[in-house]
Amino acid sequence: MDKETLLNDLREEISSDKSLPLSESNLVFGEGDPDTEVIFIGEAPGFYEDREGRPFVGRAGKLLDELLKEIEWKRDSVYITNIVKRRPPENRDPLPEEVAAYYPYLRKQIDIINPKLILPLGRFSMNVFLPDAKISRDQGKVFRKGNWIIVPLYHPAAALRSTAVLNDLRNAFSKLPVIKNKLPDLLRNRVEPSVVEHPSHQDKLI
Ligand code: URA
Repeated sequence: MDKETLLNDLREEISSDKSLPLSESNLVFGEGDPDTEVIFIGEAPGFYEDREGRPFVGRAGKLLDELLKEIEWKRDSVYITNIVKRRPPENRDPLPEEVAAYYPYLRKQIDIINPKLILPLGRFSMNVFLPDAKISRDQGKVFRKGNWIIVPLYHPAAALRSTAVLNDLRNAFSKLPVIKNKLPDLLRNRVEPSVVEHPSHQDKLI
């Protein structure tokens, strides 16, 4: 089955899972090129995302679009999603149990896309992949975790509130094309997932 079909099936599976929290909000599954090497993962949809059913379409999304443009990456050539796939009330931070409830679906989504470069936006998303990382210390750094290179980034919403954060985020973005070009080297010995039963999830700071 092709990735598009698998992702559509996954979207249906999430829609029909009545045990998931935040059921009063709309499902914002994610969008982009299923064959991409690059996936951006935010926290949870906000007001505009809930209304449109698409990730990162509000103010933070406009900044993400601008930063993508600066590095000449087309938005539809990457994949963009969130850990939690429905909007928490009043845009509050997602609760640990909400992150945990949606995680198996995020993991399936990632496994279908099989990206090489995971770009968590903000600390909630970063800590899903790198539980001991600290956003101010580790944003922009390159980690290898099993089959993935992970570069944590500040959340664009935080960059809208602070010029210093925006400068750091812009600087981290400017390095992404070089990191992407180096993926074959950074992911030496990557084992294609179809033959990996239990990928090693050893954190390694490069
Ligand atoms: N913030 C997020 O984390 N995700 C979105 O989709 C929009 C804003």
